[in-house]
Amino acid sequence: MDNAQKIKEAVDTVEHISKSIELKRTGKNLRGICPFHGEKTPSFFVSPDRQTWHCFGCDKGGDVISFVMEKQGIDFLGALELLSEMYHIPLEKGAFVQSDDKKRLYQALSDATEYFQTQLLSDKTSLAYKYITESRNLSLEEISEFGIGYAPNSWNQTGEFLQQKGHTEKVLVDAGLAISKEGGRGWYDRFRNRIVFPITDRIGRVVGFTARALDKEETAKYINTPETVLYKKGNLMYGLFQAKEKILQLDYVIIVEGTMDVISLTSHNIKNVVAPLGTALTEDHVRILKQSTSRILLLLDNDTAGIDATFRSIATALSQGMEVKVATLTQGKDPDEAFANNPEVTKKELFENQDAIEFAIRHSKKSHDPHKPHFQKHVADAVLPLIKVIDNAIDQESALRQLSTAVDISIDSLKRELNKGSSPQKNPPPPPVSEKQKSTKGRLLWETLISSLLQLPDSLQENTVIINILKPLSVTDTSHPLLSLSDKLLSHLIDHGRIDVGSFIDQLEENEKECADLLLLKDLGTMISNNDSYIAHLSQIVTSIRRNQIKARVATIAKSIEPTKEDLSELRELTNQLKVLG
Ligand code: UTP
Ligand code: MN
Repeated sequence: MDNAQKIKEAVDTVEHISKSIELKRTGKNLRGICPFHGEKTPSFFVSPDRQTWHCFGCDKGGDVISFVMEKQGIDFLGALELLSEMYHIPLEKGAFVQSDDKKRLYQALSDATEYFQTQLLSDKTSLAYKYITESRNLSLEEISEFGIGYAPNSWNQTGEFLQQKGHTEKVLVDAGLAISKEGGRGWYDRFRNRIVFPITDRIGRVVGFTARALDKEETAKYINTPETVLYKKGNLMYGLFQAKEKILQLDYVIIVEGTMDVISLTSHNIKNVVAPLGTALTEDHVRILKQSTSRILLLLDNDTAGIDATFRSIATALSQGMEVKVATLTQGKDPDEAFANNPEVTKKELFENQDAIEFAIRHSKKSHDPHKPHFQKHVADAVLPLIKVIDNAIDQESALRQLSTAVDISIDSLKRELNKGSSPQKNPPPPPVSEKQKSTKGRLLWETLISSLLQLPDSLQENTVIINILKPLSVTDTSHPLLSLSDKLLSHLIDHGRIDVGSFIDQLEENEKECADLLLLKDLGTMISNNDSYIAHLSQIVTSIRRNQIKARVATIAKSIEPTKEDLSELRELTNQLKVLG
């Protein structure tokens, strides 16, 4: 049995998901508020029979492993490891299991974190402690939530401590904690006389540090762990582990520039905040954030560099379909300072944010003199690149309209500028709506029928009324997995009178399985309130399907130029049947 199989057999999906989401029973399934997109009415369903889940709001779904991947924002292997640790399920060694090398690095980093923290907290009269609690005004709560520590002012104290704990020089160097001396003669500690902030991955494991100098004479204010096997700065964001729950809950993320900005906002009870680590916002960052929310609020420094970064971050985020807002702070050079100087005004400014395009327009208008030539062109040149990357045509048009009003230039001219040098529309136009609707309506009936049958309550199993309702129904065309599934399910029910969902779905073809697993979780609403309404609904759906089938057949016969005698008698028969169905 492979590791994934082992995990899936040992972990109960309903039990695991219930740890983080309140699930209520609805018929055969359980239902709750989806943790992966902001919603108020629950569209997240879990099937105890199949050990699967699906959200009909954001269309995510799968098994317990994919739930953990999605929830923690980690890969398949990470999810296996996490579940194996949580439920004490030993995994077979193999390509998929975390290497011992990585485990040693994690352990060294975790020991270092603990050591640094002890160093900070053991002497309350130290400069480091005073700096954190007085100059930066942080409480023990933030110190412990972010695991803030102090790296002693020594070339080897930290490394020697870690070596005593059994970590080798190679591990210390590979983890980014120590630096090898030239010529391979020994090592020295990377972080010395600095406040250290552990950087964690999305499940809270320390993968590196960012460290701030205490000494003003130090050339580098911050130094960070270099790229290691575990530390890839393009994929990491400071504070994401701590902020994740809040980001999901509030359905937006605040992005700041610095480590201290994250901590400072958190201490002012604004907790959905993260910072890239000494880089601009990358596409990878946006992709990671997108797993939790599609809305970003930029709160960068208000110097020229910060404004530049804001424009670049807007482009990166808009190009990935994010909704972007910008807040401008006036009370300090960065959010940390602004909150320290005037928390009330700063909070107000944070919530009075503006849409990114509006921000870009206003900022560009302010930075150019309207009385000088080419004013409109300057503004348009600054804003159009942002509008250009908006993928959604409606949003793009609305942004163009804003710009058009702001600079008093027609939308047509702006559009021409926008399309300069770019190839014509890549995407083919969508099919006409009527066609689409026709096929969905028939399909919807079948889907509802199959959903209802897969979720048949135990009290309606082996019920002759149900069987009789289903008997007149036949599937003539099995080209679509939904229809071949329907065919199999109907015969199964008519033959056996009952259905064991687990074993029934197991023997289906792969594409039918996919279909069935989804329909098994589909919400049946009030239909399942009692057996009578269940039966009434089933019979209504069957009638509608039959009516559609007959009408389709009638239409085919009616189209033939020279109908035969048989055709005509079939037509009469069909018309009668239609009358009976009402
Ligand atoms: P800032 O220079 O704006 O620092 O750098 P800050 O956050 O205001 O720092 P404090 O308040 O003086 O402590 C913002 C971010 O850029 C990265 C760090 O991640 C920092 O948080 N940075 C800055 C570096 O990586 N190296 C540096 O030398 C400076
Ligand atoms: Mn600062």
